[in-house]
Amino acid sequence: MQENTEEKKAGRILIVDDEKDITNVLSDVLRGKGYATQTAPNGSEGVKLYKEHPYDVVITDLKMPVMGGLDMLSALRKIDKNSIIIIMTGYATVETAINALKSGAYDYILKPFKVGELLTVVERAFEKIRLSSENLQLREQITLLKLSESVSSSLSLDEVLSILVDAAQKEVDADGLEILFRPPGTKEFSRRLATGNISEIDKVFADLSTLERELGGGSTQWRGKALDSLIDEAAKPVVRSAMSVPFKRGGEILGVLNAYSSSKHREFLPREEKALIVLGDRAASSVENALLYADLESSFRETIQGLAMAVEAKDVYTHGHSEAVTNLCVAVATEMNCSSVFIDTLRQAGLLHDIGKIGISSNILNKAGKLSPEEYEIIKNHSQMGRRILEKISFLKDVVPIVYHHHERYDGKGYPDGLSGEDIPLGARVIQVADTYDAMNSDRPYRKGLGHEMAVMELKRCSGTQFDPQCVDAFLRMVERNGMP
Ligand SMILES: [Fe+2]
Repeated sequence: MQENTEEKKAGRILIVDDEKDITNVLSDVLRGKGYATQTAPNGSEGVKLYKEHPYDVVITDLKMPVMGGLDMLSALRKIDKNSIIIIMTGYATVETAINALKSGAYDYILKPFKVGELLTVVERAFEKIRLSSENLQLREQITLLKLSESVSSSLSLDEVLSILVDAAQKEVDADGLEILFRPPGTKEFSRRLATGNISEIDKVFADLSTLERELGGGSTQWRGKALDSLIDEAAKPVVRSAMSVPFKRGGEILGVLNAYSSSKHREFLPREEKALIVLGDRAASSVENALLYADLESSFRETIQGLAMAVEAKDVYTHGHSEAVTNLCVAVATEMNCSSVFIDTLRQAGLLHDIGKIGISSNILNKAGKLSPEEYEIIKNHSQMGRRILEKISFLKDVVPIVYHHHERYDGKGYPDGLSGEDIPLGARVIQVADTYDAMNSDRPYRKGLGHEMAVMELKRCSGTQFDPQCVDAFLRMVERNGMP
């Protein structure tokens, strides 16, 4: 065996032939072109060498003692289905060549061959390797891009963090993943999410301030003693190596993504570390967005509550009505298995359903006696007024139709548009039931509330005329199951 151990950039080629003259000549020619070569006298030796350290390309004779070229071909394909094998054949039969190609050979050359022919085939083989490795890199980049896109398109913090962990799971061969999070302005990190065998353990790092110091500005990997000095006793049996990537806003570390392995000698690959860094980087801006969005959402919620209170301050008889209606709506919609997005919209609509009363004179709203037909028309106008107030607010676009139609009736005899059945938005049908129940059940200065039993009887009596029977049924089931919310 002759070996050229210097590994050159051009690639590694194994030459297998029992004729020493041929292996020597081939080796000289290929080394002259910058390839690193090694030779073997038969298929069996070739397989052994390949197993020790795979070659980019194998050039082999067909007829050899111990193990021939075709047998070696199938053995190598079993080790690596992408191995590139070029057959040399002195028996110029098309059949042998075709058999070799069918069994997965990359190409064949006929003996005796010219040096130029051989080099052309070898160069083509390396071109194929280069293309498929570029393709692989491209695939990796596309995967990362897709993952980071889905991270950046989420608005809720929990969603961002769980997408992040899922993505890391796909990119890194870890036995456990963990996210430590520290809300801006606070000092302590706490575990927000954990997967795999570390989810059973309370904490992996003994002291998180040491972790933060260790991390400094970038990602870090630990194994052996270095790791032992950092991790908690309880984690030692399952955590043998660890990799941490911070996600930061400005200079501040918002959170840390940790990957753990339980295998003794496992070192995370550069590719895995790169993937984690890309994800951590993308997560930083998404986490920041999610935090901003949460801020915005809470001030928005306060604004809505403020508006609802403004209505109630004006209409003294209906104190606490908006909130009671909202709680009933949420309970009924939950009983109807509505989506959480729908329930959120309905919650806002419940608080705001009578917002249009802001535009109605207090004398009419608070009148103790019977309303004149004109006054009643003015009161009815609060649906339109509600729409006019809310339609300017883009956040509330889904709330507007519910507020506008909350006095329609299932039989089409309501207002403002006289819609019937399922033409009325579902949210408005739910509000009709909740709104009427709460009105019937509440005391007014000029009359006593009907009480729960009577109010429920009235809902049943008007199911299918005033109310959507589905909503009434859900209301009754909800009361039966949980009592009044
Ligand atoms: Fe109303």
